[in-house]
Amino acid sequence: MSGSLSRPHVLVMSEITVDGKLTLKRGASSKILMKYMDPKTEILLHRTRAEYDAIMVGSTTIKIDNSMLTVRLVEGDNPIRVIPNSRADLPPDANVLKGDAPTVIAVTKAAPPENVRRIAEKGVDVVVAGERHVDYPLLMHILRTEYDVERLMVEGGPTLNYYMLKNNLVDEVRLIHLPFIVGGADTPSLVGGMHIDSEDEMFRLVLKNHYTCGSNLVTEYDVLNHRSDV
Ligand SMILES: NC(=O)c1ccc[n+]([C@@H]2O[C@H](COP(=O)([O-])OP(=O)(O)OC[C@H]3O[C@@H](n4cnc5c(N)ncnc54)[C@H](OP(=O)(O)O)[C@@H]3O)[C@@H](O)[C@H]2O)c1
Repeated sequence: MSGSLSRPHVLVMSEITVDGKLTLKRGASSKILMKYMDPKTEILLHRTRAEYDAIMVGSTTIKIDNSMLTVRLVEGDNPIRVIPNSRADLPPDANVLKGDAPTVIAVTKAAPPENVRRIAEKGVDVVVAGERHVDYPLLMHILRTEYDVERLMVEGGPTLNYYMLKNNLVDEVRLIHLPFIVGGADTPSLVGGMHIDSEDEMFRLVLKNHYTCGSNLVTEYDVLNHRSDV
Protein backbone atom coordinates (compact mmCIF):
# COMPACT_ATOMS: atom_id res chain seq x y z
CA MET A 1 0.00 0.00 0.00
CA SER A 2 1.12 3.57 -0.56
CA GLY A 3 2.72 5.44 2.34
CA SER A 4 0.52 8.46 1.55
CA LEU A 5 -2.68 6.94 2.94
CA SER A 6 -4.25 8.95 5.74
CA ARG A 7 -3.34 7.68 9.18
CA PRO A 8 -3.43 8.60 12.88
CA HIS A 9 -0.60 10.35 14.69
CA VAL A 10 1.41 7.52 16.27
CA LEU A 11 3.25 7.42 19.60
CA VAL A 12 5.39 4.41 20.58
CA MET A 13 5.54 4.23 24.38
CA SER A 14 7.61 1.68 26.23
CA GLU A 15 9.18 0.72 29.54
CA ILE A 16 12.83 0.04 28.92
CA THR A 17 15.85 -1.02 30.98
CA VAL A 18 19.19 0.80 31.00
CA ASP A 19 20.43 -1.74 28.42
CA GLY A 20 17.44 -1.15 26.16
CA LYS A 21 15.53 -4.35 26.96
CA LEU A 22 11.76 -4.67 27.26
CA THR A 23 11.60 -7.81 29.37
CA LEU A 24 13.79 -10.23 31.38
CA LYS A 25 14.40 -12.75 28.61
CA ARG A 26 12.78 -13.96 25.39
CA GLY A 27 9.32 -15.33 26.20
CA ALA A 28 9.05 -13.61 29.60
CA SER A 29 6.18 -11.25 30.41
CA SER A 30 7.05 -7.57 30.65
CA LYS A 31 4.67 -7.45 33.62
CA ILE A 32 7.60 -8.68 35.75
CA LEU A 33 9.54 -5.49 34.92
CA MET A 34 6.48 -3.26 35.07
CA LYS A 35 6.03 -4.17 38.74
CA TYR A 36 9.06 -1.98 39.39
CA MET A 37 7.68 1.12 37.70
CA ASP A 38 7.17 4.02 40.07
CA PRO A 39 3.43 4.36 40.92
CA LYS A 40 3.56 7.89 39.49
CA THR A 41 4.85 6.49 36.18
CA GLU A 42 2.07 3.90 36.11
CA ILE A 43 -0.35 6.81 36.39
CA LEU A 44 1.45 8.56 33.50
CA LEU A 45 1.02 5.40 31.41
CA HIS A 46 -2.69 5.15 32.16
CA ARG A 47 -3.19 8.90 31.63
CA THR A 48 -1.54 8.57 28.23
CA ARG A 49 -3.87 5.68 27.35
CA ALA A 50 -6.85 7.83 28.32
CA GLU A 51 -5.57 10.65 26.06
CA TYR A 52 -5.35 8.42 22.99
CA ASP A 53 -8.14 7.15 20.77
CA ALA A 54 -6.60 3.71 20.32
CA ILE A 55 -3.83 1.52 21.70
CA MET A 56 -2.06 -1.19 19.67
CA VAL A 57 -0.03 -4.14 20.95
CA GLY A 58 1.46 -7.10 19.07
CA SER A 59 -0.23 -10.50 19.20
CA THR A 60 2.84 -12.15 20.76
CA THR A 61 2.66 -9.70 23.65
CA ILE A 62 -1.02 -10.57 24.11
CA LYS A 63 -0.11 -14.29 24.14
CA ILE A 64 2.74 -13.79 26.66
CA ASP A 65 1.49 -10.90 28.85
CA ASN A 66 -2.27 -11.35 28.44
CA SER A 67 -2.47 -7.53 28.56
CA MET A 68 -5.73 -5.75 29.37
CA LEU A 69 -4.89 -2.40 27.74
CA THR A 70 -7.55 -0.54 29.70
CA VAL A 71 -7.50 2.73 31.65
CA ARG A 72 -7.58 1.80 35.33
CA LEU A 73 -5.53 4.22 37.41
CA VAL A 74 -7.05 7.49 36.22
CA GLU A 75 -10.50 8.65 35.17
CA GLY A 76 -11.02 8.36 31.44
CA ASP A 77 -12.36 6.31 28.59
CA ASN A 78 -10.67 3.14 27.42
CA PRO A 79 -9.02 3.58 24.03
CA ILE A 80 -9.94 1.17 21.23
CA ARG A 81 -7.67 -1.86 21.56
CA VAL A 82 -6.05 -2.87 18.28
CA ILE A 83 -4.25 -6.19 17.86
CA PRO A 84 -2.60 -7.17 14.55
CA ASN A 85 -3.06 -10.93 14.31
CA SER A 86 -2.74 -12.21 10.73
CA ARG A 87 -4.06 -15.72 11.39
CA ALA A 88 -6.68 -14.79 14.01
CA ASP A 89 -5.06 -17.18 16.46
CA LEU A 90 -5.34 -15.23 19.72
CA PRO A 91 -6.26 -17.45 22.67
CA PRO A 92 -10.07 -17.32 23.10
CA ASP A 93 -9.68 -16.48 26.80
CA ALA A 94 -7.37 -13.49 26.15
CA ASN A 95 -8.25 -10.45 28.27
CA VAL A 96 -8.51 -8.27 25.14
CA LEU A 97 -11.41 -10.46 23.95
CA LYS A 98 -13.46 -9.97 27.11
CA GLY A 99 -15.59 -7.13 25.75
CA ASP A 100 -14.74 -4.55 28.45
CA ALA A 101 -13.39 -2.08 25.86
CA PRO A 102 -13.93 -1.53 22.14
CA THR A 103 -11.54 -3.86 20.34
CA VAL A 104 -10.35 -4.33 16.76
CA ILE A 105 -8.52 -7.49 15.72
CA ALA A 106 -6.72 -6.97 12.41
CA VAL A 107 -6.47 -10.22 10.45
CA THR A 108 -5.47 -11.06 6.87
CA LYS A 109 -7.06 -12.88 3.96
CA ALA A 110 -4.92 -15.87 5.00
CA ALA A 111 -6.67 -16.24 8.36
CA PRO A 112 -8.56 -19.56 8.65
CA PRO A 113 -12.30 -18.74 8.59
CA GLU A 114 -12.97 -20.83 11.70
CA ASN A 115 -10.41 -18.76 13.64
CA VAL A 116 -12.03 -15.54 12.42
CA ARG A 117 -15.48 -16.81 13.40
CA ARG A 118 -14.27 -17.80 16.87
CA ILE A 119 -12.83 -14.33 17.47
CA ALA A 120 -15.81 -12.46 15.98
CA GLU A 121 -18.11 -14.44 18.31
CA LYS A 122 -16.42 -12.67 21.22
CA GLY A 123 -18.10 -9.42 20.16
CA VAL A 124 -14.97 -7.66 18.91
CA ASP A 125 -14.54 -6.09 15.47
CA VAL A 126 -12.50 -8.10 12.99
CA VAL A 127 -10.99 -6.12 10.09
CA VAL A 128 -9.11 -7.62 7.16
CA ALA A 129 -5.92 -5.68 6.38
CA GLY A 130 -3.48 -7.51 4.14
CA GLU A 131 -2.89 -10.74 2.32
CA ARG A 132 -0.52 -12.87 4.41
CA HIS A 133 0.83 -10.40 6.99
CA VAL A 134 -0.97 -7.40 8.40
CA ASP A 135 -0.50 -4.40 6.09
CA TYR A 136 0.17 -1.63 8.61
CA PRO A 137 -0.36 1.40 6.31
CA LEU A 138 -3.73 -0.10 5.34
CA LEU A 139 -4.60 -0.84 8.97
CA MET A 140 -3.70 2.75 9.94
CA HIS A 141 -5.93 4.01 7.11
CA ILE A 142 -8.83 1.84 8.29
CA LEU A 143 -8.41 3.08 11.86
CA ARG A 144 -8.33 6.71 10.71
CA THR A 145 -11.24 6.53 8.26
CA GLU A 146 -13.55 3.89 9.75
CA TYR A 147 -12.88 4.30 13.48
CA ASP A 148 -12.04 8.02 13.58
CA VAL A 149 -8.72 7.32 15.34
CA GLU A 150 -6.68 10.52 15.32
CA ARG A 151 -4.10 9.45 17.91
CA LEU A 152 -2.77 5.93 18.28
CA MET A 153 -0.47 4.72 21.03
CA VAL A 154 1.68 1.64 20.38
CA GLU A 155 2.87 -0.31 23.44
CA GLY A 156 5.11 -2.82 21.63
CA GLY A 157 6.54 -5.37 21.55
CA PRO A 158 9.75 -5.07 19.55
CA THR A 159 8.51 -6.82 16.40
CA LEU A 160 5.45 -4.57 16.10
CA ASN A 161 7.63 -1.51 16.84
CA TYR A 162 9.93 -2.61 13.99
CA TYR A 163 7.16 -2.98 11.41
CA MET A 164 5.59 0.34 12.40
CA LEU A 165 8.93 2.15 12.06
CA LYS A 166 9.86 0.33 8.87
CA ASN A 167 6.60 1.50 7.32
CA ASN A 168 7.31 5.12 8.35
CA LEU A 169 4.30 5.15 10.64
CA VAL A 170 5.82 6.42 13.91
CA ASP A 171 5.81 10.11 14.84
CA GLU A 172 6.90 10.08 18.49
CA VAL A 173 8.67 7.80 20.98
CA ARG A 174 8.25 8.06 24.76
CA LEU A 175 10.43 5.90 26.99
CA ILE A 176 10.06 5.10 30.66
CA HIS A 177 13.58 4.24 31.78
CA LEU A 178 13.78 1.56 34.45
CA PRO A 179 17.01 1.51 36.48
CA PHE A 180 17.94 -2.11 35.74
CA ILE A 181 20.32 -3.99 33.48
CA VAL A 182 19.11 -7.43 32.47
CA GLY A 183 21.55 -8.47 29.70
CA GLY A 184 21.01 -11.32 27.28
CA ALA A 185 21.99 -11.11 23.62
CA ASP A 186 18.57 -12.34 22.49
CA THR A 187 16.51 -10.54 25.12
CA PRO A 188 13.88 -8.41 23.30
CA SER A 189 14.89 -4.75 23.02
CA LEU A 190 12.88 -1.71 21.92
CA VAL A 191 12.96 -2.58 18.23
CA GLY A 192 13.34 -6.06 16.75
CA GLY A 193 13.34 -7.10 13.10
CA MET A 194 16.34 -6.98 10.79
CA HIS A 195 19.60 -5.18 11.44
CA ILE A 196 20.62 -2.30 9.19
CA ASP A 197 23.67 -2.23 6.93
CA SER A 198 24.57 1.45 6.96
CA GLU A 199 24.00 4.61 8.95
CA ASP A 200 21.79 5.90 6.15
CA GLU A 201 19.18 3.43 7.37
CA MET A 202 19.11 4.67 10.98
CA PHE A 203 15.94 6.27 12.22
CA ARG A 204 16.87 9.72 13.46
CA LEU A 205 15.08 11.13 16.47
CA VAL A 206 15.25 14.45 18.27
CA LEU A 207 14.97 14.62 22.04
CA LYS A 208 12.17 17.06 22.79
CA ASN A 209 11.54 16.56 26.51
CA HIS A 210 12.90 14.75 29.55
CA TYR A 211 11.69 14.67 33.13
CA THR A 212 11.50 12.44 36.17
CA CYS A 213 8.26 10.81 37.15
CA GLY A 214 8.74 9.57 40.70
CA SER A 215 11.98 7.61 40.51
CA ASN A 216 11.83 7.01 36.73
CA LEU A 217 13.37 9.07 33.96
CA VAL A 218 11.01 9.71 31.05
CA THR A 219 12.31 10.81 27.66
CA GLU A 220 10.28 12.02 24.69
CA TYR A 221 11.46 12.10 21.09
CA ASP A 222 10.10 13.14 17.73
CA VAL A 223 10.96 10.81 14.86
CA LEU A 224 12.79 13.17 12.55
CA ASN A 225 13.24 11.41 9.28
CA HIS A 226 12.11 8.21 7.77
CA ARG A 227 13.99 5.38 6.19
CA SER A 228 13.94 5.42 2.43
CA ASP A 229 14.15 1.67 1.83
CA VAL A 230 10.45 0.85 2.17
N1 LIG B 1 8.50 -3.28 28.18
C1 LIG B 1 7.51 -3.02 27.38
O1 LIG B 1 7.06 -1.86 27.30
C2 LIG B 1 6.89 -4.11 26.55
C3 LIG B 1 5.74 -3.81 25.81
C4 LIG B 1 5.19 -4.81 25.00
C5 LIG B 1 5.76 -6.07 24.94
N2 LIG B 1 6.86 -6.33 25.68
C6 LIG B 1 7.46 -7.69 25.59
O2 LIG B 1 7.78 -7.96 24.22
C7 LIG B 1 7.76 -9.39 24.02
C8 LIG B 1 6.98 -9.73 22.77
O3 LIG B 1 7.49 -9.02 21.67
P1 LIG B 1 7.63 -9.67 20.22
O4 LIG B 1 8.53 -8.81 19.44
O5 LIG B 1 7.99 -11.11 20.38
O6 LIG B 1 6.15 -9.66 19.65
P2 LIG B 1 5.06 -8.49 19.42
O7 LIG B 1 5.70 -7.29 18.81
O8 LIG B 1 4.23 -8.33 20.64
O9 LIG B 1 4.15 -9.22 18.35
C9 LIG B 1 4.61 -9.37 17.02
C10 LIG B 1 3.61 -8.67 16.09
O10 LIG B 1 4.20 -8.49 14.81
C11 LIG B 1 3.36 -9.08 13.83
N3 LIG B 1 4.20 -9.60 12.75
C12 LIG B 1 5.07 -10.63 12.80
N4 LIG B 1 5.67 -10.80 11.60
C13 LIG B 1 5.16 -9.87 10.77
C14 LIG B 1 5.38 -9.54 9.40
N5 LIG B 1 6.26 -10.20 8.64
N6 LIG B 1 4.68 -8.50 8.88
C15 LIG B 1 3.81 -7.81 9.62
N7 LIG B 1 3.55 -8.09 10.94
C16 LIG B 1 4.22 -9.10 11.52
C17 LIG B 1 2.62 -10.16 14.56
O11 LIG B 1 1.41 -10.41 13.92
P3 LIG B 1 0.91 -11.92 13.64
O12 LIG B 1 -0.08 -12.25 14.67
O13 LIG B 1 0.28 -11.72 12.33
O14 LIG B 1 2.10 -12.82 13.62
C18 LIG B 1 2.38 -9.53 15.93
O15 LIG B 1 1.23 -8.73 15.99
C19 LIG B 1 7.14 -9.98 25.26
O16 LIG B 1 8.15 -10.57 26.05
C20 LIG B 1 6.52 -8.79 25.98
O17 LIG B 1 6.48 -8.99 27.37
C21 LIG B 1 7.44 -5.38 26.48
